[in-house]
Amino acid sequence: MTEIARFSEQWLERVRAAVDIVEVVGRRVELRQTGKNYVGLCPFHSEKTPSLTVNPEKQFFHCFGCGKGGNVFNFIMETENLSFPEAVVKLAQEKGIPVPSLSPHDQRKEQEREQLRQVNQLAARYYYRNLRSPAGAKARAYLEGRGISKELARHFYLGYALEEWDGLASFLQTQGVDLAVAQAAGLVTAGQRGFIDRFRGRVMFPICDHLGRFVGFGGRSLVSSGPKYLNTGQTAVFNKGQILYGLNWSKEEIQAQDQVVIVEGYTDLIALFAAGQRNVVASLGTAFTPAHARLLKRFCSQAIIAFDGDAAGERAAWRGMEVLHASGLKVRVASLPGGEDPDSFARARGMEGVRAWLHSARPFREYQIDRIISQHDVETREGKLAASTELVTLLSQLTNAVERDEYTRYAAERLGVREEALAAEVHQRLGIPRVPRAQNRRNLKGSPPKRAAAVSALEAGEELREREVLRHLLQEPGLLREITEQGIAADSFQHPDYRHLFLSLSAGLSDERAASTASRLLSLEEPVASWEDCLGSFLAVLKRRRLRKIEEKLALLENDREGFDVRMELYQLLKEYYDICSHHSS
Ligand code: UTP
Ligand code: MN
Repeated sequence: MTEIARFSEQWLERVRAAVDIVEVVGRRVELRQTGKNYVGLCPFHSEKTPSLTVNPEKQFFHCFGCGKGGNVFNFIMETENLSFPEAVVKLAQEKGIPVPSLSPHDQRKEQEREQLRQVNQLAARYYYRNLRSPAGAKARAYLEGRGISKELARHFYLGYALEEWDGLASFLQTQGVDLAVAQAAGLVTAGQRGFIDRFRGRVMFPICDHLGRFVGFGGRSLVSSGPKYLNTGQTAVFNKGQILYGLNWSKEEIQAQDQVVIVEGYTDLIALFAAGQRNVVASLGTAFTPAHARLLKRFCSQAIIAFDGDAAGERAAWRGMEVLHASGLKVRVASLPGGEDPDSFARARGMEGVRAWLHSARPFREYQIDRIISQHDVETREGKLAASTELVTLLSQLTNAVERDEYTRYAAERLGVREEALAAEVHQRLGIPRVPRAQNRRNLKGSPPKRAAAVSALEAGEELREREVLRHLLQEPGLLREITEQGIAADSFQHPDYRHLFLSLSAGLSDERAASTASRLLSLEEPVASWEDCLGSFLAVLKRRRLRKIEEKLALLENDREGFDVRMELYQLLKEYYDICSHHSS
């Protein structure tokens, strides 16, 4: 978790300087030199003509086809599915650069976690055998009744917990397992006369982390009384907020399709698998967290939320969308008729049905707007007003102006009101001064456009974003890793004091200037939004700035359309520009 603290900026720089991106990319892709750059077939999507460019001077790669790009660490992370620290360590080891070691304390923690995973794996084997034993007949019949074949049950390593008090406990004992470890793994609980099993009389779904290590279980009751599902509680290796069921089986497919389908339940995932849809993960009926989103982002850039067609499902989906979107994934929603879940749907409609349904997934903003409108009787004046108030709340949260305008138009159309009227409400909520139309038009003709009041208001907003991110960081230095992973660096901050403070924080050094900025920020009384919101808004600000820069460069390049390099750069800038735009309007 705190691995980033292991690596100093200097050490990271040493690794960076020791590796050559052309050599690293060249191991996977045959590269050909063209001018200053190298080109080759992109490993992230299938193609016949090379669109992957590697720039040795800047030490980055970029694919014009699929838009993937980054430095050598990103390349290793993407191609080998490694986290940032894993990728850095791998490259350092190759170059013979000594890796700062884990502290004895961290080493012991890791050993303890490994023990828990081992005992979970033993338990999974025990349950697996039970299901296939005579005592598992009832459970086998249950699975068959739900359309889960023997092959599927084997693939997902399904098992059965016998209706005994200490079946697992005594099995583990015969295997020489210390039951205190089994307790720490959430498999047994201490009763009055020794340890008893936590899971009894349940079909068992082993849960693995994305590396396929056994970390927990979900147990489905065969009877209608008691809780339907019982899951492993929080342990040192199992945290519902960080684990996605099925990712170990689906990650390759998710990566190949650059898309993940997110469902709620174990059985939903299995039924979709059976219907040929193999890029699926299940959120285990829990709220979707930023950690979930980050995990998925390592494998793909698009997500389809496919939650149950009931009120609880919709609520879960709603929050999930925002979290996924904030992490930079392109989000769509595939809704189901009331009472259906992906499991029942897939079994009733089969492969074709599933494909058509997922194909019909809509951008989540559209879904949200339609949903708000459908919850009011917009035939009446009151209903229309109530709906428009909710829509204004939603629309005013969209930080990207293009996206906001786009969906304001959509919402106005759906609600049957004038776009200008709805836009005026949104602007009022945002405190953006209205620019008279006539002036607007004049600006379009005259060049360059004047940076009017609205723009300086925006820049004040940008300073606020920088401030908020830093305040979170000051309170929780552990966030530095996440920030760095998002590509935020000192030069992402425009305010010179903030840039300086960020530099000091990342270097772990402080001076008078940094200390005084820090204490000023910490003593501010304004409320701070949640970390996710702050980070999301700040990333949006960065993208907006990047767009502005690209616009400026494009204007310059327009005057110079000669040479191949200029055309390449023009192409690259346009590509990046549209990527950012299309990402925002998702
Ligand atoms: P659902 O109630 O939609 O489960 O909960 P399901 O998968 O459709 O269950 P079946 O088809 O009746 O077997 C979705 C997910 O929420 C979690 C489980 O992870 C489940 O797969 N859940 C649900 C629990 O953890 N506990 C519960 O009591 C119910
Ligand atoms: Mn179900």
